[in-house]
Amino acid sequence: MSIHLQETQRRRTFAIVSHPDAGKTTLTEKLLLFGGAIQMAGSVKGRKAARHATSDWMALEKERGISVTSSVMQFPYEGKIVNLLDTPGHADFSEDTYRVLTAVDSALMVIDCAKGVEERTIKLMEVCRLRDTPIMTFINKLDREGRSPIELLDEVESVLGVACAPLTWPIGMGKRLKGVYHLLLDEVHVFEQGKNFTRQDSTIFKGLNAPGLEQAIGTEALNELSEELELIQGASHPFDLEQYHAGKLTPVFFGSAVNNFGVQLLLDFFVEHAPEPRSRATLSREIKPAEEKLTGFVFKIQANMDPAHRDRVAFMRICSGTYTAGMKMLQTRTNKEVRIANALTFMASDREIVESAYPGDVIGLHNHGTISIGDTFTEGEAVSFTGIPNFAPELFRRARLRDPLKMKALQKGLAQLSEEGATQFFRPLMSNDLILGAVGVLQFDVVAYRLKDEYGVDASFEPVGVVTARWVHCDDAKKLEEFREKNAMNLAIDAAGELVYLAPSRVNLQLTQERSPAVRFSATREHA
Ligand code: G4P
Repeated sequence: MSIHLQETQRRRTFAIVSHPDAGKTTLTEKLLLFGGAIQMAGSVKGRKAARHATSDWMALEKERGISVTSSVMQFPYEGKIVNLLDTPGHADFSEDTYRVLTAVDSALMVIDCAKGVEERTIKLMEVCRLRDTPIMTFINKLDREGRSPIELLDEVESVLGVACAPLTWPIGMGKRLKGVYHLLLDEVHVFEQGKNFTRQDSTIFKGLNAPGLEQAIGTEALNELSEELELIQGASHPFDLEQYHAGKLTPVFFGSAVNNFGVQLLLDFFVEHAPEPRSRATLSREIKPAEEKLTGFVFKIQANMDPAHRDRVAFMRICSGTYTAGMKMLQTRTNKEVRIANALTFMASDREIVESAYPGDVIGLHNHGTISIGDTFTEGEAVSFTGIPNFAPELFRRARLRDPLKMKALQKGLAQLSEEGATQFFRPLMSNDLILGAVGVLQFDVVAYRLKDEYGVDASFEPVGVVTARWVHCDDAKKLEEFREKNAMNLAIDAAGELVYLAPSRVNLQLTQERSPAVRFSATREHA
């Protein structure tokens, strides 16, 4: 088998989806710990702290208790290469999360055993369902009193519409937590406070009749377990790989992330059964990971990841072929060839220059304003990947500058930050206003904070009479010119130089559309 195929088959690229506070950060930390990517528990928090030191705008994230950036973490485990794509948790940043979910092959859903299926999880699962993304489930915080496991599985099945196949089963909960039983391995893993960090650390019994088990967990717990197992073997679904890969069934694990309990069982199962890189649709054909020519798409752009370097990075998911340093790629939207010598990889938190990368991997391309979200890169074929959502702004504000001498810096900041896709930046044809559009109101705070921190610009945002934006296109140059003249008052140019109609009201938009039948109005910027 070729190196390209071997490397492809060992990739596992996924994201964790959860409601804030369910334990995503804690679980990430433990997964990295097992992957050897970090030396001791607590390092993700340490990593968070280190990032605060270099990037002050993260303080905003801390103040609000939300995570506004996503990153990519790669680590080896049991002969596989795991790529974990982090997703921001707060509802306001959902566009970013949606796009991250287009770049994974599977997802891991974390549920708090006391809270069950929460609102963010429902939304994220809807997105996963659009693409039949296979989901694994981790029911967390077993060390606390929660709802009964059967009730939790029922809720996942009825609210999320996916069949549950429990792979582990809790023995007690909260103070009575004794361990978990692995249904496929027929093993009891005993819960011991402050242990469970490695397999050697854990006490494992083979089968329910194993000598010593009854002493270890107590007669009552053992009897309860036997009864529950009979019940679930009748009532729940057995694990079925095909159904899992089709997104119809979710393997369920129980545990406690903060205690590192049940996490390794999850990870072992994950690397064995989670799907390897899958095929992806383009406008013209499906592209298979086994194809030898490189293809990939950009699902995320981030400005000023490291303020010391003032860089902007475009995150590209590789879909086929092999990336090697120095190769030439075709950016299909612009039809330009670019040489990529210094793409970044994301081994845990360290950014390194990568020599080669394979399907499932994410590489970071340095962006100088020429790369947009949704862009496809290939070795020459003119294809474009589909399904990378682009969100229409729903809220608009005018930027107000405190120091007029900072105009240049303000424009640059607004333009660069809008490349990330969470905000859009518009310059009206007939005024000197700078207008920002966003999907969520929190974005204006984030931009104001980052303008100050990263660009040294003190700006605020005030209401402006715009309710919606439409990108306008017309194949007839003369008609477009006419339209432009007639509607100049409401037209603006976006950060990429495209013409946009900023409507003061829905009625106005409707009338304008009726009066200009030759002009196409689209709610999002077209990439292809
Ligand atoms: P998130 O990224 O999904 O938002 O959740 P995060 O991991 O930050 O966890 C949210 C809180 O839940 C944290 O407590 C974390 O310690 C706690 N937690 C995570 N896993 C478990 C678990 O298995 N059992 C229990 N009892 N708690 C768990 P915090 O008080 O917000 O933060 P911290 O001060 O403990 O770090």
